[in-house]
Amino acid sequence: MRIGVLTSGGDAPGMNAAIRAVVRTAIFNKIEVYGINRGYAGLLEKDISPLNVYSVADILQRGGTILRTSRSDFFATEAGVKQGAAVLEEYGIEHLIIIGGDGSLMGALALQKLGVSVIGIPGTIDNDLGCSDYTIGFDTAVTTALDAISKIRDTTYSHNRINVVQVMGRKCGDIALFSGLAGGAEALILPEVETDLDGICRRLLIGKDRGKLHSIVMLAEGCGNYRDYCVKIEELTQVTTKGTNLGYIQRGGSPSNMDRNLACFMGYNAIQAIVKKETGSVMVQRLGGYLGIPLEEAIQMKKIFRQDIYDIAMVLSI
Ligand code: F6P
Repeated sequence: MRIGVLTSGGDAPGMNAAIRAVVRTAIFNKIEVYGINRGYAGLLEKDISPLNVYSVADILQRGGTILRTSRSDFFATEAGVKQGAAVLEEYGIEHLIIIGGDGSLMGALALQKLGVSVIGIPGTIDNDLGCSDYTIGFDTAVTTALDAISKIRDTTYSHNRINVVQVMGRKCGDIALFSGLAGGAEALILPEVETDLDGICRRLLIGKDRGKLHSIVMLAEGCGNYRDYCVKIEELTQVTTKGTNLGYIQRGGSPSNMDRNLACFMGYNAIQAIVKKETGSVMVQRLGGYLGIPLEEAIQMKKIFRQDIYDIAMVLSI
């Protein structure tokens, strides 16, 4: 049997660990693996080569993706998907494993509708999928954000300022929420919660009156640009307000314990699904357990906002 594996969309720490788990488990089960480089764009351009045990040696701890990645506009069209399915047939690839976020899983569904056997593995720092409690890369991104918050705190404290720290996540506020709670942020601005900037500034001033010398405001990407918030917050509080956009450092670095473990389980389970003829699914983690959910159902599952975590953050940041 021959299978293919690709990574697509934004890279995420732990993607390499997932590729390794896929390749090693496949070889253990006497399945041949082809690596498709540069995501769906590489599939269309036949940028495909065989992988062996040595191809995935020494990558478990590396960020990024050795297969590299892309976002392909053409693959999002009907003609693009048809061409992709034809390339898979030409190479004799019977099953395709896709490691990526929501856009990548949508691509997988489009291929499935043309009869291609696919399996999804959630890999994105955004943690914005409804089907899995956590996605590969999220934990490392939060850890990176935490490290940055600690450093920003040192200078913000020294100058008695406010600092708005902007993190990634598209429409999902999880990176801001989890790093905000763990990093002791004084305020959170998230797409899932209506922003009351006057209220936030009042809270910051109450803290200041009580003796707080500085404040960190975590801002999720989906709420707008940190520069605009700095201007408004400074106007409302009359406290010097600086901003930091953490940007792409959140996407890099050696994956955390949690991301490596997620990747190992999900990669291993993806091959088990092929062996058991249970393809057409996404490998997920829910309530601490690992399972496969049918692809179409998984894509439709709504991401549930962790109001409980937000409420705790509000209590602890008084
Ligand atoms: O999906 C991951 C992500 O890093 C988002 O948080 C961010 O909005 C986007 O990708 C950035 O994409 P690009 O790498 O294309 O600039």
